Amino acid sequence: MKRLPEKGATWVEVKELLQASKTGDSEWKRGRLPLYVYWRDDELCQVAKEAASMFFMENGLGKKVFPSVQQLERDVVAMTLDLLNGGPNAVGNFTTGGTESIFLAVKTARDFARKERKAKGRLKIVAPLSAHPAFDKAAHYLDMEVVRTPLRQDFRGDPKAIENAVDDKTVMVVASAPAYPHGVFDPIEDIARIAIVKNLWLHVDACVGGMLAPFARDLGYDVPPFDFSVGGVTSMSADLHKYGLTAKGASVVLFKDEKYLDYLRFKFSHWPRGNYVTETFLGTRAASPVASAWAVMHYLGREGYQDIARTTLETKARFEVGISAIRGLEILKPNDLSFLLYRSNDKSVDIDAVAEGMSAKGWFVGRCNAPPSIHLMFNPVHAPVVQEYLNDLASVVDQVRSTGRIGSLDESTY
Ligand SMILES: Cc1ncc(COP(=O)(O)O)c(C=O)c1O
Repeated sequence: MKRLPEKGATWVEVKELLQASKTGDSEWKRGRLPLYVYWRDDELCQVAKEAASMFFMENGLGKKVFPSVQQLERDVVAMTLDLLNGGPNAVGNFTTGGTESIFLAVKTARDFARKERKAKGRLKIVAPLSAHPAFDKAAHYLDMEVVRTPLRQDFRGDPKAIENAVDDKTVMVVASAPAYPHGVFDPIEDIARIAIVKNLWLHVDACVGGMLAPFARDLGYDVPPFDFSVGGVTSMSADLHKYGLTAKGASVVLFKDEKYLDYLRFKFSHWPRGNYVTETFLGTRAASPVASAWAVMHYLGREGYQDIARTTLETKARFEVGISAIRGLEILKPNDLSFLLYRSNDKSVDIDAVAEGMSAKGWFVGRCNAPPSIHLMFNPVHAPVVQEYLNDLASVVDQVRSTGRIGSLDESTY
């Protein structure tokens, strides 16, 4: 069993050990990973890192003593609200990631419903099958239930199914912009209409799209209405550590109106140390991701993010053309923003065997099980490797066809 060393070591020695610990890790910088790491270049990464290290020791819990952190946080929230058409009364909070943003939205919706709508008992969230498991995780912690509804043929959430699933215990409905499994936007305007008529909280999960869709739209890509400009949207989550390209531990949860803040806050005073009030799940919080997000957003500006969106979506288009040209494979349609899924359309090409073959060549292969397909999500790190991926894919498909190999589905992405 690993034990704390009796004696310390030099930083040089420790650093070598850390470096060595990475031997088995994915070569993400060589574009081998279609998730987890969003990266453009060393220069941008350096900005994110240096800003983070400037605020390395501060603590986001200490609002009074670190007004700098609070101001940076307010700025980041304000910039994100502006991108997502928050309007004059909108507010938000910096969080550590999509899961915390979603947790806080669910907790706020629950407490709002309990107080304002006198909702009682085990309250429900209605969400399309493709919504992120963070909703179930939040529901688990908050003693709520998630009712999952079937998707339409086009993999988008089905407003009719959502409407039918709503009952007197339902307090929240969910839509994604876009949802991760198939990479498509739910029909947010239609779902919002149901939320308005039934007086329900609508959370739009834009963890993936929040920092990409506005810039894709600037460039002329067809992006459906998905943010606070859609009447009926009550809260949103948007991750900065995904397409914001900042240090990990950075997301925002946003609310249409400041009245919801009362239900977000946790207040406690029944201990000998006075009032304890937080608006996040965490107590002590790193300030580094806040500074990093603020710095990257200022360093890139709208134009920088438009460039990132352009590179990302042009890279996707090159993959799409290349994969479509490989006999035996077809692209799943529709696909939105940076996502691309492909499957076999030829009995002699088993998609699980293709996944295994690509994995053996060093590519991390994301899988979707319904329908069985291979799941890609691009960012600028993939721009230089398009041809390499396509060459490997073409040769793997040939091999699978000629050997008749059958693979097995490995769903253990996480
Ligand atoms: C649509 C969506 N929502 C929420 C999350 C959760 O975000 P995080 O992993 O930052 O907690 C993800 C993560 O991939 C996601 O794709």
